[in-house]
Amino acid sequence: MLFDLKPKKRKIDLFDRKEELEGVMEAFKKFPIILITGLRRVGKSSLIRVSIAESKYSSISLDGRLLFMNSGGNIRKMHLVNQIEKELANFSKSEKLRKSLKTLKGISINGNSVSLDWKEIDILSLLERIENFAEKNRSYVILFFDEAQYFKHYGSRGGKDLLALFSYVYDNFERIRIVLTGSEVGLLHDFLSADDYNSPLYGRVLKEVQLQPFSKELSILFLKRGFEELKIKVDFDLEKAVDILGGLPGYLVQFGIRYSEKRNFDAAMDETLKTITGMIKGELEELSGKSRRYVKALKYIASGADTWSKIKNIFAINGDIISDSRLFEILTNLEKMCWVKKEKGEKVIYTVVDPMVRHVVLSKY
Ligand SMILES: Nc1ncnc2c1ncn2[C@@H]1O[C@H](COP(=O)(O)OP(=O)(O)OP(=O)(O)O)[C@@H](O)[C@H]1O
Ligand SMILES: [Mg+2]
Repeated sequence: MLFDLKPKKRKIDLFDRKEELEGVMEAFKKFPIILITGLRRVGKSSLIRVSIAESKYSSISLDGRLLFMNSGGNIRKMHLVNQIEKELANFSKSEKLRKSLKTLKGISINGNSVSLDWKEIDILSLLERIENFAEKNRSYVILFFDEAQYFKHYGSRGGKDLLALFSYVYDNFERIRIVLTGSEVGLLHDFLSADDYNSPLYGRVLKEVQLQPFSKELSILFLKRGFEELKIKVDFDLEKAVDILGGLPGYLVQFGIRYSEKRNFDAAMDETLKTITGMIKGELEELSGKSRRYVKALKYIASGADTWSKIKNIFAINGDIISDSRLFEILTNLEKMCWVKKEKGEKVIYTVVDPMVRHVVLSKY
């Protein structure tokens, strides 16, 4: 069903994205490390889940944002191993896997269940066994790190231990594929820093699949298909909804569900905007925790201060004399986190990427 809030898992529930799906499935066979990048709610998790399901590979998923939250901001081996243990349950029914893992230190196998002792287990040795298992099956195992930029909070060296593991997998394993998603695209690239010779990943080729929001036409078609699927006749022009919401499937799904419940455009849109505002407010709070100036800058840009000097001025008018280097840092980071887009023409113009974020910072925040 298209109007479902959870990331899609089945191909028939995934609208469009044919090329991207083929791209990812091809990439599984060719590239040890694959990045899926795009704005929040654009459909990264859906794309990767459907790709894994379609290719019928086993997978281990680790959600960076969740691990970051649950670990109080400092992800350690214990958290990683606990999550791996849960994920192993997905394919521990396989006799072959249990056989490959049986003799590994730190692992105990009881019937179908596999438990790991985080102090004892060596993650690299575990991956070696998984590689052997995949090799024997002539298959691949996907190690999926969702919102991977959060893994820079792994261990005490800014995530470098994990990057070292990635580079070992890259160099030595043929059957384990590492898939990383990131909505803060610049931060993800900073974390991996494959072009920095101090990074363990230096020189490795990372295949990137970028997901864009749907075009206006596709967004309209997405809503049309979603309502058709539910056999709901709509009494408004779909374009009107898309003009407000933009092309992020996450927003379109929210609206689809609300309209199905209310059968009234204004009431449904009102509820949708409230929900979206709630989601974005949470994200803005997280951003504000890094620096209050990020949210201020977003607000100023949304209100029309679209050049460097206008932004600097409006900070000053509001009593905050900001240095050039600090403003540079704020705008560069906002761009890396994909809140803001910089267009280079005669002048450099800044815009807020997501129309809903624009709406929220201008109205209530
Ligand atoms: N191609 C698609 N077809 C149908 N539904 C989609 C598609 N892409 C995304 N969705 C829906 O949009 C919502 C957001 O998708 P998803 O969680 O996959 O995005 P995401 O980019 O991983 O988001 P986040 O940044 O919040 O993790 C979900 O409700 C999902 O079902
Ligand atoms: Mg996701």
